[in-house]
Amino acid sequence: MTNLDFIYNRKSVRQFKDTPIPREHIIELLKAATHAPSPKHQQNWHFVVLENKEIINEMAEIVTKSHENIGSLAKDEKDFKRHMSVISYYTCFKEAPVVVLVYSCEYKMIEYKILEQNNAPKEVLDVLVSPQSAAQGIGAAVENFLLAATKMGYGTCYMTGPTHAKSEIEKLIGFEKEGYELMSMISLGVAQEDTPAQPPRRPLEEVVTFID
Ligand SMILES: Cc1cc2nc3c(=O)[nH]c(=O)nc-3n(C[C@H](O)[C@H](O)[C@H](O)COP(=O)(O)O)c2cc1C
Repeated sequence: MTNLDFIYNRKSVRQFKDTPIPREHIIELLKAATHAPSPKHQQNWHFVVLENKEIINEMAEIVTKSHENIGSLAKDEKDFKRHMSVISYYTCFKEAPVVVLVYSCEYKMIEYKILEQNNAPKEVLDVLVSPQSAAQGIGAAVENFLLAATKMGYGTCYMTGPTHAKSEIEKLIGFEKEGYELMSMISLGVAQEDTPAQPPRRPLEEVVTFID
């Protein structure tokens, strides 16, 4: 069988060594990301690389505050506790020497324009946008990055949790690109020893259907 170890060895890493990552390795990973497929090849992504530990730590503080603010709105203690119990999964990027913020812009669809100009009802237009093609393109790019990083011996974590603080994050880093929105981030670094294993997968029989 084909050797797919670089796929099976990938796992989410949330504890990193301080080891710096050479700029050329980061560039190689970004190049791999941009070789992902994208809807109509619109390549609707932009990557912002953070290597400054002070900024990364400040970003974690911002996300913590936003997380606590949301928690304070919980209607009961159970929801509050549940929400607060996952805070480390929203801020663990602070352990990484490099964090890549992944932005996306709208995926433009000619079919949407045509149907909209013909006063198509909202339900018809909703069907067109429901695949969220822009987000799917970002997912493909991020996965390319993660797999390439695994192959190069690095640990990564794909994160969308912290994006609830996207406007505050944007202010902190001072990055703006017309029409682009923060979709996810990737923590990157050399994994510490003995980080948790990849959790088990559902059996294929449960998630696959062959139709003969
Ligand atoms: C779209 C997406 C968003 C995710 N967001 C977070 C996150 O905010 N924080 C986190 O710690 N992990 C996050 N993860 C990682 C998942 O928790 C992880 O992939 C899952 O538990 C399976 O573990 P594995 O990656 O080790 O196989 C995210 C993964 C995906 C695909």
